[in-house]
Amino acid sequence: MTDDIERHQLSAVLTSLSHALAAGALYAPEHPRVTAQIPRLADSLVTLLQQRDEVTLLIVKEELLYQGKPLEKSQHTTRIARICGAKNIGFLRFSAGIDNAEIALLLRVVLGLDALEALQNNAQHIEIGDVDVAPGEVATESRAIGSFEDLSAEELQNLKAFYQSAREKAPLDTQDMASIIAGFITAFRREANPLLALVPLRMEDEYTFTHSVNVGILNVAQGMSLGFSGQMLHDVGIAGMVHDVGKIFVDNEIIRKPGALSDADWEKMKAHPSRGAQYLMNQEGIPKVAVFSAFEHHMRYDLGGYPEVPKNWRLNVCSQMTMISDTFDALRTRRAYKEPWDFAKISGRMLEVAGTQLNPHLTLNFLKTLAKMGEDVVVEGISLMAGAEDRPESEFTGRCVCE
Ligand SMILES: [Fe+2]
Ligand SMILES: [Fe+2]
Repeated sequence: MTDDIERHQLSAVLTSLSHALAAGALYAPEHPRVTAQIPRLADSLVTLLQQRDEVTLLIVKEELLYQGKPLEKSQHTTRIARICGAKNIGFLRFSAGIDNAEIALLLRVVLGLDALEALQNNAQHIEIGDVDVAPGEVATESRAIGSFEDLSAEELQNLKAFYQSAREKAPLDTQDMASIIAGFITAFRREANPLLALVPLRMEDEYTFTHSVNVGILNVAQGMSLGFSGQMLHDVGIAGMVHDVGKIFVDNEIIRKPGALSDADWEKMKAHPSRGAQYLMNQEGIPKVAVFSAFEHHMRYDLGGYPEVPKNWRLNVCSQMTMISDTFDALRTRRAYKEPWDFAKISGRMLEVAGTQLNPHLTLNFLKTLAKMGEDVVVEGISLMAGAEDRPESEFTGRCVCE
């Protein structure tokens, strides 16, 4: 299916869903104005699902996202996002086999006429979830990794080997990374607190490695709070873990250089997003959103960052999540030698840049999610860096680790 045809089919889905919801808000569900939309919506979904295993609409505040990408705002997307948002629905996922009866049930649930369970019990081709629901996890059987110490020496070694093969430009084996991400997801679902797994600041040559693991964990936390599940949740975790892989193409001296960079060095550093994306594009088993995130994670929400892109560039939602995790981990670990920043200070700083550097809705959601998990845990995560406080200032680059 070409992009154009897909866009056309999607537009048919959104139009009939929006019409059905508008009519359903005014009339009884049996009214012809409502029932007339049901086969239209079912037909357009069936066509869209001929080429995809599943179709996911994600609702983030007033925005509607399709397969992780924000959609152009229209009266239909706005209406769907508003009505779903008011019912705390974070996502709608459809899979092949969907029929009219399931669509009718969906409308009743979204309109508040039936409970969510009715859909969960009677519509196997529709998943619907609020911000905390993550049904059908791929990771249900995985061992929970609730702290960095839960990683075996072998897993740690394999994880490091992953970055090492990237450095040697050898083919990547994404298997271990995928199972570690699955372990973090299981820990989250068991309400263990994987923020404890945030890796303490270690030696500088491990910067990129530890930072990458942290961004992966934080992406999973965000994804779960937004209702991501299954493959999509895994993909955002992987995207976090490989977002900075382009740094392997930047000389180590530049990465470790204390103080400000010269213009020439800065230009080399600024190439890491595009070099990383190019590299990942040629690797098997790397999700598309990971390529986007590697490319877009320094663009900033207002597109004022790098690489430079046209004004109408639409950032992938996973990249926007990665930017937030990246910024958080950078603030958490920077200047640890003086006074570690507490949660209030970090969130204050992030809120200052929400709307310019970071997507404001996603930032608020992120901070709320962390606050819910317990500020003290986040602070504890910071205090894990205690050893760093004794190290002389000259040992730190003074630069944000994400740059
Ligand atoms: Fe980066
Ligand atoms: Fe980074």
